[in-house]
Amino acid sequence: MIHVTNQIVDFCDRINRTPYIYLTGGDPILHPDFWRLLEYFHEKKLRFCIMGNPFHLTADVCRRMHDLGCVKYQVSLDGLEKTHDMFRKPGSYKATLEAIRLIKASGMWAAVMSTVSKTNHKEIPALIDLADELGVDVYAVGRYCPTSIEKAYDPDIHMTPQEYKAYMDECFERYLAHKNSRTTYQLKDHLWTLYKYEKGLFKPDGSLPANAVIDGCNCGRNHVTILPTGMVCACRRMESEIGSVMNTSLYDLWTSAKFDEYRQYDKFVKCSKCRLKAYCRGCPAVAYGYTHNMYDADPQCWMEVDE
Ligand SMILES: C[S@@+](CC[C@H](N)C(=O)[O-])C[C@H]1O[C@@H](n2cnc3c(N)ncnc32)[C@H](O)[C@@H]1O
Repeated sequence: MIHVTNQIVDFCDRINRTPYIYLTGGDPILHPDFWRLLEYFHEKKLRFCIMGNPFHLTADVCRRMHDLGCVKYQVSLDGLEKTHDMFRKPGSYKATLEAIRLIKASGMWAAVMSTVSKTNHKEIPALIDLADELGVDVYAVGRYCPTSIEKAYDPDIHMTPQEYKAYMDECFERYLAHKNSRTTYQLKDHLWTLYKYEKGLFKPDGSLPANAVIDGCNCGRNHVTILPTGMVCACRRMESEIGSVMNTSLYDLWTSAKFDEYRQYDKFVKCSKCRLKAYCRGCPAVAYGYTHNMYDADPQCWMEVDE
């Protein structure tokens, strides 16, 4: 972990960027060297946050994390109590609400993330309201990335583009209702760019070069995933192994031909023809979940493109 951390620092130094580490699991707190790693982050003055579970948080644990420089702790809410506990385990919803209180009290930002699919999309507007009520600092919704092709087409999980847009309409109304909230609502799904474009709230810059990519999906642009083995992946939501940081520097992996395979923007079956290509590209990991080709059309994108 020390080696990986040093690699992150060296890499960011070389490309003149400030690192921001998201430490995740499972539940990172359960790792026997969790506190040693946080002390090392602290020593290196690294900005980091944790995406974990609520079950092992106490006032003391939260304060210790905060003192070691943890900016934000993210927990999940996958629905209201019954749905969330069905996904997770009985009592999990209540434990999460209590964890949010402890995180906030420690001075860390409390972030809540919901993962949406057909199973729970009707409850997301209520979760948007709940985030405001609980005073969470950041609330975001990510789309479920199917972990097998069978799951992708399961009618209880799959949403059509029109269903997804209708769901976004309902969320948008709730976001507007909370526009003065202390909660920052992150429009994490890049399809929000398409949504705002259609509403006239986002205008593409007509002077960009045709092949420019300046926003949208971060894959190959500004994030990497590093597994506990040291294996570097282009995206944490799909099989995308590049190579191990235990024997090749992160810089060499980032600049390798293998990583470039994830930057072939003209290969996007649909996005390459879309006027929002520079800003969106949907979620290639969701597309990958459906067909095992990240360049296929985003299964929830409703944009019509000229052939
Ligand atoms: C990997 S978890 C790690 C932290 C913690 N164990 C949890 O479940 O919240 C971080 C976030 O990723 C989401 N997630 C897990 N599997 C996913 C998938 N296949 N597609 C999209 N999001 C997923 C979780 O719901 C959670 O909000």
